[in-house]
Amino acid sequence: MFEITSHSPEETKRIAAAVGGLLLPGDLVNLSGELGAGKTLFVKGLAGALDIPEEMVTSPTFSILNEYEGTGVLLYHFDFYRLGSERELENIGFQDYFYGSGISVVEWGDLFPEHLPDDRLDVVMEKTGPQARRLSFSGFGERGRHIAEQVRRLLSVHPGH
Ligand SMILES: Nc1ncnc2c1ncn2[C@@H]1O[C@H](COP(=O)(O)OP(=O)(O)O)[C@@H](O)[C@H]1O
Ligand SMILES: [Mg+2]
Repeated sequence: MFEITSHSPEETKRIAAAVGGLLLPGDLVNLSGELGAGKTLFVKGLAGALDIPEEMVTSPTFSILNEYEGTGVLLYHFDFYRLGSERELENIGFQDYFYGSGISVVEWGDLFPEHLPDDRLDVVMEKTGPQARRLSFSGFGERGRHIAEQVRRLLSVHPGH
């Protein structure tokens, strides 16, 4: 796990774009943090790295899933916040997305943790000031740990715990 502090929305987007540039088809990023932490903003930055205009990225709070077409890859943007039950998640056919050849990013994935793939990058966002956010990165599974390590190097963060 390692942490980065973002001091502005622009900085959060830059960090997210660095993450987006490292992702491959099939990867999944799980974003958690309270409302207003910056999860949707993070997705905008991440999408930019896939050549998806950030204006295309909107909160899927009510739709649960938005799909955007990047260069050579689809980005699946989930928001589990208003998801009522596991049944609803199954009805969406989430496995086809999570284990398919697109890139998935999930806001509030922690609400249904048992449905997240074992291989993933978790990013926890915490408000530490009006414009400040602490971003904690943890990689799970072989692929997730690899992504986390690449992000850490790219952002020149010293190894944490
Ligand atoms: N450093 C920062 N990183 C991300 N968002 C920030 C930051 N500072 C202020 N903000 C503001 O916080 C809000 C985050 O909103 P949003 O991305 O929709 O959050 P969430 O999806 O987590 O509910 C935006 O209005 C954004 O401008
Ligand atoms: Mg959001």
